[in-house]
Amino acid sequence: MTYPFPENFLWGGAVAANQVEGAYNEGGKGLSTADVVKYCPPKERQSLEQLLSMSGPQLEEAVQDDNLGNYPKRRGIDFYHRYKEDIALFAEMGFKVFRMSISWPRIYPNGDEQVPNEAGLRFYDDVFDELRKYNIEPLVTISHYEMPVHLVTKYNGWESRELVELFVRYAETVFTRYRDKVKYWLTFNEINCTLKAPFLGAGIILDGKSNEKQIAFQALHHQFVASALAIKRGREINPQFQIGCMLARKLLYPYSCHPGDVLKAQAENQMAMFCSDVQVRGYYPSYIRRHLEQHGVTITMLPGDEALLRDNLVDFLSFSYYMSSVVSVDESITATTEGNLSTGLKNPFLKTSDWGWQIDPKGLRFVLKEMHDRYQLPLFVVENGLGAADVLELDGTIRDPYRIEYLAQHIEQMAEAIADGVELMGYTSWGCIDLISASTSEMRKRYGFIYVDQDDAGNGTLLRLRKDSFYWYKKVITSNGADL
Ligand code: BG6
Repeated sequence: MTYPFPENFLWGGAVAANQVEGAYNEGGKGLSTADVVKYCPPKERQSLEQLLSMSGPQLEEAVQDDNLGNYPKRRGIDFYHRYKEDIALFAEMGFKVFRMSISWPRIYPNGDEQVPNEAGLRFYDDVFDELRKYNIEPLVTISHYEMPVHLVTKYNGWESRELVELFVRYAETVFTRYRDKVKYWLTFNEINCTLKAPFLGAGIILDGKSNEKQIAFQALHHQFVASALAIKRGREINPQFQIGCMLARKLLYPYSCHPGDVLKAQAENQMAMFCSDVQVRGYYPSYIRRHLEQHGVTITMLPGDEALLRDNLVDFLSFSYYMSSVVSVDESITATTEGNLSTGLKNPFLKTSDWGWQIDPKGLRFVLKEMHDRYQLPLFVVENGLGAADVLELDGTIRDPYRIEYLAQHIEQMAEAIADGVELMGYTSWGCIDLISASTSEMRKRYGFIYVDQDDAGNGTLLRLRKDSFYWYKKVITSNGADL
C-alpha cells in the first residue's frame, strides 16, 4: 500500500504551556488555574470528576501553599529554561510544526490589566524565533486549560460574560505581537470540555450550585462569542492567519445492533460535535434545543451574538483523538472503561492502555471521515498518543515498542482516511516530550518521544533522553509517512 500524505503535510508534536513550562512565578507571570491543582496520589483518587474539579476552600488553600512538591504543573518539565534544547530535539526528528500554547497569566498576570507583561511576551518571541531557526511552524493554542486565578476569584471564570472582553484583549495582544511569527492559531483547547469539566475548561467553581448544566452551557456560549470575536480581530490583524477550533473528539459505538443502542450512540456522537457544529457552521444546531429543554437550560444571548457566530467561522477544525468507547440502553451492561476526560462502556474488541484507555486506530479513520463529510473543511489531528509507564534502562535507553505500535496504527488509519478523500493538514502527536498529565498531574504517565528524568514528586535531573520512538518518528517524517 502507498501512503498518500501530501507533500506539505505538517508532521510534528504538541504540548501545552501549563504542562511543560514550569517557572510558574518567574518573568512576572501570575498564578494560573493549572498551578493550583494539587497532586493526588493514585490510592486517594475517587473519580475523574474529583480530579478535574475545584472547590473554593481548595483554591484558597492552594493559593497560600508554596510547597512546590504539591503542584506538579508549577514546575512542569522546565521548558521555560530549556526550550532551546527541546526545540533542537524536535528539529532533529524533523518536525515541520510544533503545537504549543501561550500561558494567559504570563501575558496578563491577573487577566484584567490594561497593559500586558512585556517579559511574558518576550519569552514567546524567543520561543518562536528558535522554532523559525529550524523552519518549524508554530501552531499556537491561545487558551489551553489555564487562565489567571484572579479571573476565577473575581468572576468565577467563564460563567461571567466579562471574560469575553478580557480574552479578546489577550488574543489581540498576542495576534498583534506575533503577527509575523505565527500563522496557525487555535482559540480554545478541547472547547467541549467546558461541559464536562467546568473548572478545567472554564475556570468555574461550582461549590453548592445545583444548576451545573445551565452554568456550563452559558460559559460555553461566552467562549463561542469570545472565539468568534478573536477570529474577527485576528483576520483584521493579519488576513493570512489560519484560525481553527479544537475539539476533544469522543467516539461512541453502539454496544449492539439494538436500535436503541444505535440511536443512543448517534445522539452522543452528535453531542460530541456540538461545539464544532457551532464554530464551523456558525449557528446552534437544531438538535441542541431538545437537549437544553430537557436539562432546563436557557442560554442568554446578547443582540449581535448570532451574527457574530455566523460571520466569523473557523478556517479549519482540529481535534484530539485517543480512544473510543461504547454506549448501550441495556442497564445491565456495566463494565466501564477509563478515558480522556470521560468514561464509557468497555468494548470487548479493543485492548487498553496502562491507564485503561481503549486503543482504537480505526476509530480515528471513522471520525476523520465523519467530520470531513459533515463539514467539508480541512482537518488537523492535533493530539493523539499513548500514555505509558516507560522504563529507563541502565544503559540509558528507553524501549517503547508499544508507543511505536500505537502511533503507527493511527498514522496508517490517517493515510486510509486521506485515501478515502479526507483533507488532512497535519498531525501533532501529543506530549512529544514527556510532560505533566492534564488529568492526573502525573509525570509517570509518559507520552513523549523524549524521556524527561523526573518523577511524580519532582525528583530527577530533568535530563532529556531519546526513546526508541524518537528514531522511529524521525524516519516516519523523513519518509512522509511511508515508512512506519
Ligand atoms: C487532552 C488535553 O485532553 O488530553 C491534554 O488537551 C492532555 O492537555 C491530553 O494532556 C492527555 O490527557 P492526560 O490526562 O493523560 O494528560
